[in-house]
Amino acid sequence: MTGYEIRPALESESTQIRSLIHLVGINPTGLDWRRFVVAVDQTRQVAACGQVKPHGSDVRELASIAVHPEHRGRGLARAIIEVLMRENPRPLYLTCMSHNGPMYEKFGFRVIKVEQMPRYFARIRKLFDVAVLFRKPGEELLVMKLE
Ligand SMILES: CC(C)(COP(=O)(O)OP(=O)(O)OC[C@H]1O[C@@H](n2cnc3c(N)ncnc32)[C@H](O)[C@@H]1OP(=O)(O)O)[C@@H](O)C(=O)NCCC(=O)NCCS
Repeated sequence: MTGYEIRPALESESTQIRSLIHLVGINPTGLDWRRFVVAVDQTRQVAACGQVKPHGSDVRELASIAVHPEHRGRGLARAIIEVLMRENPRPLYLTCMSHNGPMYEKFGFRVIKVEQMPRYFARIRKLFDVAVLFRKPGEELLVMKLE
């Protein structure tokens, strides 16, 4: 973690955030830089990012957690998730592919059933189930909640 600064994003980093999200191949919608926390390296490049997205007034989603491949395994995702968890009230929700579920369990998130999901997440989950073309064998979309 030495050599990185964890802080709110600057407007001038908006393009770098978008590039990182595209590079790692996660949801490219709703990337307002004002909500982002970033990790920047000594050359002021955005090495990692994350945000909490509101869906209406009482549903919040931990989202856009991404670490550039060259900076992985150094605790940057943990540092960003911890800041976002500190700064946002509960409950927090997230969606992730099943291979990332164990990472979020480390932070206290638990998988929830369709009946427990706010409508927004139930809809996403349904769309994903229909979009079989995008599914890898054995991969499932998880909706998780931190109480
Ligand atoms: C998932 C991702 C953000 C993790 O980045 P990272 O640099 O490995 O994260 P960190 O080093 O901060 O690791 C955080 C913790 O989670 C653990 N972890 C990371 N990936 C994990 C996984 N797939 N399964 C279980 N644990 C995992 C680490 O071991 C570490 O645990 P520790 O703090 O108790 O030692 C990164 O691989 C990435 O950007 N992937 C592509 C985008 C993506 O899938 N984002 C998530 C969208 S839901």
